[in-house]
Amino acid sequence: MWVPQATLSLFAFLASRSLARLDGTKIAHDLQSILSPESAVFLLGNSSALIDTTPRFNVWHSPTYTVSVKPAFPRDVQKVVSYSRDKKVPFLATGGGHGYTGTLSALRDGIEVDLSYFNTVEVDKDKNLLKIGGSVRFRDLMGPVYAAGKAVPVGACPCVGMAGATLGGGIGFWSSTYGAISDSLSSLEVITADGSLITVSSTSNADLFWAMKGAGANYGIVTSLTYNIHDAPNGGQVMSADMMFPVSANGSLWEFVKSWVGKQPAELSLTISLLFDPIAGQFIIVTNIIYTGPLTTGHSIIQPLLNLQPLNTNISYIPWSEAPFAATYGGPANNCGKPTIMVPHAVNLYQVDTKALCDAVDYLNQTVPKDPALQSFVFAFTQYSQAGFKATEKKKSAFPWRDVVMYAQMDGIAMKADDVPAIDAFGKGFRDLLQKSNRKSKLEVYTHFAHGDEGAAAWYGEENVSRLRKLKKQYDPQGLFSFYNPV
Ligand SMILES: Cc1cc2nc3c(=O)[nH]c(=O)nc-3n(C[C@H](O)[C@H](O)[C@H](O)COP(=O)(O)OP(=O)(O)OC[C@H]3O[C@@H](n4cnc5c(N)ncnc54)[C@H](O)[C@@H]3O)c2cc1C
Ligand SMILES: *[C@@H]1O[C@H](CO)[C@@H](O)[C@H](O)[C@H]1NC(C)=O
Ligand SMILES: *[C@@H]1O[C@H](CO)[C@@H](O)[C@H](O)[C@H]1NC(C)=O
Ligand SMILES: *[C@@H]1O[C@H](CO)[C@@H](O)[C@H](O)[C@H]1NC(C)=O
Ligand SMILES: *[C@@H]1O[C@H](CO)[C@@H](O)[C@H](O)[C@H]1NC(C)=O
Ligand SMILES: *[C@@H]1O[C@H](CO)[C@@H](O)[C@H](O)[C@H]1NC(C)=O
Repeated sequence: MWVPQATLSLFAFLASRSLARLDGTKIAHDLQSILSPESAVFLLGNSSALIDTTPRFNVWHSPTYTVSVKPAFPRDVQKVVSYSRDKKVPFLATGGGHGYTGTLSALRDGIEVDLSYFNTVEVDKDKNLLKIGGSVRFRDLMGPVYAAGKAVPVGACPCVGMAGATLGGGIGFWSSTYGAISDSLSSLEVITADGSLITVSSTSNADLFWAMKGAGANYGIVTSLTYNIHDAPNGGQVMSADMMFPVSANGSLWEFVKSWVGKQPAELSLTISLLFDPIAGQFIIVTNIIYTGPLTTGHSIIQPLLNLQPLNTNISYIPWSEAPFAATYGGPANNCGKPTIMVPHAVNLYQVDTKALCDAVDYLNQTVPKDPALQSFVFAFTQYSQAGFKATEKKKSAFPWRDVVMYAQMDGIAMKADDVPAIDAFGKGFRDLLQKSNRKSKLEVYTHFAHGDEGAAAWYGEENVSRLRKLKKQYDPQGLFSFYNPV
């Protein structure tokens, strides 16, 4: 592994500079002296030094660091945690770099613990286990798991970190069958606030296991995760059907979605995305349907949509490991890793109120065309079967969102930073609009889709927060792991 020797001379140069910079220099020096030589330490803020760290996807409200460290071994992570705690320097782990909640901006001038070197993927076919390092992304593990004839739930965008997603639950098309990604967890290796390395599972630190399956970013740094994997149904093949509709079809699409509520098969997941097409000057709707069963059955499921005469269709029958690359015309995959200014808003919906949704679409259709700042918004509505979520009892993990009907996401992409206030206000207003016709009096939101202003009860469920807080006091009394939607 490469150790950036060049930065050492840089430290000496910078030692004569401002106090803040001097701190970073000292931190970098200290860490370099205590960590294994296989680790790497980077002093940030110097554009001409070679700096090789994981980029962040979202530039909006991102954390800032003076030093980034890539520990090589769990003992190195232990040392960074103990050092940072003792020196009172805030720190945060980076897995895939795709976390985007606004609470992350509370971290200023900290130490980034970049877990890039924890990148192994091991599939044990006979024991039905998958063991991965803390920075492995969906795209790294899907191929090997598929090749073994197995399946494990993953999310929609291939470049998202598996650990990061799992710690907040994790949802994707397999959720219809297997529930949250965290429902497939078997055990974790965790470095806690006191610097110790512990195994967390249903038989070891079981209370923490409950909490980390849903609110995990609050309790430690995970160097490795082991999952129970499943024999892939349907030979591992899935239908991924993309269709494009004019916005005038929205009512029929909501009716289609509504027709599945309460009876959606475990093989089916649906996504409806509304986007403004600036060339045509109007909204379009893209639907993606993933069916993890035979193509003939998949075809009969989508027949009502084909009857609506979509503007375009692309129906493919592919290995499940390719579905996240193909879905929604490859849109999510194509944006992988590209730094983006994104202001997120989201809400869990508990019913499909077609009238309210049509009104919401009409509102978008009237307002967005008039304001260029709002024209890169993506409005996505995802519907999974509750079968997968309900296969695991609620009390087995902190992940509470097992009866959501649709996950609504308003991802406000800004083409320039000046547009952020308008996008923020619009996203918030649209969230309020959807919440008005929801079945819940209080806002609830899947933690990973959150804006950051909703609060712990909204992210983790009112009933679970007190237990999560008790465990927080026990395992992280100083609140070292409190930058990602803290409890
Ligand atoms: C384009 C895009 C698509 C997405 N699609 C989906 C989806 O389909 N389904 C879904 O459920 N979510 C999805 N998400 C949300 C995603 O699950 C979260 O953003 C998640 O936090 C990303 O994890 P990461 O490791 O990539 O990010 P990071 O920013 O590296 O981490 C996010 C948080 O998790 C912590 N963390 C990460 N790894 C570890 C670790 N090993 N140990 C301890 N803490 C860790 C970090 O400290 C940070 O607080 C998507 C996000 C984006 C940007
Ligand atoms: C940045 O780093 C380079 C290479 O290590 C070094 O030569 C240069 O002096 C540094 N510049 C500043 C402003 O820190
Ligand atoms: C959305 O669908 C409804 C019901 O079919 C329709 O009346 C409305 O015009 C559609 N909205 C737009 C913007 O086309
Ligand atoms: C349809 O989707 C498949 C799978 O992603 C892709 O390979 C193919 O190029 C797409 N076809 C068209 C015409 O876009
Ligand atoms: C939706 O917007 C388009 C373009 O601005 C407009 O032509 C159309 O009449 C609108 N539809 C409705 C139902 O308002
Ligand atoms: C966690 O929240 C869910 C959903 O609100 C609830 O059913 C469950 O009983 C809670 N678990 C605990 C341990 O409080």
